[in-house]
Amino acid sequence: METMPNNNGKSFYVTTPIFYVNDAPHIGHAYTEVASDVLARWHRQRGENSFLLTGTDEHGEKILRTAAANKTTPQQWADKLVEEAWLPLLETIDIKNQDFIRTTEPRHEKAVQKFLQHLYDTGFIYRGSYEGNYCVGCEEYKTEADLIEGEGAFSGQAVCAIHSKPVEKLQETNYFFKLSEFEDKLLAHYEANAKFIQPESARNEVVSFVRRGLEDLSISRSKEKFDWGIDIPWDDSHITYVWFDALLNYITAIGYGEDTDEARAKFASLWPASVQVVGKDILRFHAVIWPAMLMAAGLEPANQIFGHGWLLVGGEKMSKSKLTGIAPSQITDTFGSDAFRYYFMKAIAFGQDGSFSWEDLSARYQAELANGFGNLASRAIAMIHKYFDSVLPAGTDFTEADLQVQNIAATAVKNANSAIDDVAIQDAISSIWTLVDELNNYITVQEPWVLAKDEANRARLGTVLNTTAEGLRILAVLLNPITPKATAKLWAALGSGLGELDAQPLNEAAAWGQLKPGNVLNVLEPLFPRIETDTESK
Ligand code: ME8
Ligand code: MG
Repeated sequence: METMPNNNGKSFYVTTPIFYVNDAPHIGHAYTEVASDVLARWHRQRGENSFLLTGTDEHGEKILRTAAANKTTPQQWADKLVEEAWLPLLETIDIKNQDFIRTTEPRHEKAVQKFLQHLYDTGFIYRGSYEGNYCVGCEEYKTEADLIEGEGAFSGQAVCAIHSKPVEKLQETNYFFKLSEFEDKLLAHYEANAKFIQPESARNEVVSFVRRGLEDLSISRSKEKFDWGIDIPWDDSHITYVWFDALLNYITAIGYGEDTDEARAKFASLWPASVQVVGKDILRFHAVIWPAMLMAAGLEPANQIFGHGWLLVGGEKMSKSKLTGIAPSQITDTFGSDAFRYYFMKAIAFGQDGSFSWEDLSARYQAELANGFGNLASRAIAMIHKYFDSVLPAGTDFTEADLQVQNIAATAVKNANSAIDDVAIQDAISSIWTLVDELNNYITVQEPWVLAKDEANRARLGTVLNTTAEGLRILAVLLNPITPKATAKLWAALGSGLGELDAQPLNEAAAWGQLKPGNVLNVLEPLFPRIETDTESK
């Protein structure tokens, strides 16, 4: 079980969407996971009690149909996909999650029923009837504005703008959540909490959507149609609408509805979540329906919903349903998980759409990771081995150039930290890279290999290499949330005697002189090895 780390009293709870198990993950899902994991690791490195939740969304018609098409039961299908695809994804891209929730687990199903019963008892759920156009891909009723003219096989029909497939006309008597009652409360909440929905474009979209007016939400389906879902507690002829079930994972995973002191304490320490990361395709569910559900239950909405952009293929959202996905392992098998993490966090401004390209990945790997960071570390550490017999020299009589390295390091820590607070991960990396660039420049200008030729420069040579090693220590701490495998190698080589890299307080990283002169360095394993594969042929 998770033990509470020694921390400064702050909790940081970050969630990813729980993904449909209709198929294996592609790099779009991995993208959300990595961003959330970088945030979680960063806050953990600051000493906060950081908790990353991810998981899978296993009920609903989409999964039922997929299972049927594969001649199996939905439970068996979900079990197989979780074991063979979704859990392995976390290894592939090095995610350090604290929990993984599946909506078919009893802990979730029981708590969902408690939540429903509570809303029913307090009058937020009523029986009614509805007719509308349902998209099984989205698991959502669509309004006319959500539909577009179909193409190809579907020409002449109205199709879902996201899935490009026809919607299905449904007419049902079922249970409704009084979403329309929350219009004003939601608008007031957005107004009072300017950062509740980020980025700004996402906020604007949601605000104008809610201003146009909200309808009550159908939250059950009759078992006559299909029965893969959680039973409505007061009416066993109905199951719960899959989104109503799924959204609750964020609280059922952390103890909501469980009657133990431990569960209550856990819930109190983590809720409201600090940030809920989602793709913009599911922004309205998270920024409209979800906070309204919480308000109805007397719970606080999360502090922030961050709707990131899409990875595009040929200008369209990469998608499981459209089979346009690239498997994350196609990238990590060649470049490794660190490069995957770095690339997607640096190349695409978080919040905007972006396209993946092998050429761009390959170029950045070479220029930024291998040459910029990897070479810097290997040259500097090799010189300490060579000129000082692997023993870290002292830094003395700092010159202007040495002090500039110290200043840039301090600024990098400060700016990267505030970029992370703004969920601007790419800006955090750019801030860190000012130190990579500065150290490369510093070595070029100081020419330690020239200093080494004259014994009279021994002290100066020591100061230059000590300064560089300190810079590398700071980089190891700052980059640990982003490229944890490379930083672990660097930390091992620095042989710092400072304890575990994960335990180094990020906020104090720039405090100068933490490495102890006299410490023995180890050999550095290559951080970003040469890629032998011809990436052109991919
Ligand atoms: O919507 N680019 O699950 P889902 C970027 N089960 N991110 C992408 C992406 C792309 N091309 N494609 C997918 C569901 N994603 C529901 C969620 S939450 C209570 C229930 C990511 O399997 C992105 O995070 O369709 C997107 O929001 C999510 O996968 C949708 O995953
Ligand atoms: Mg989807």
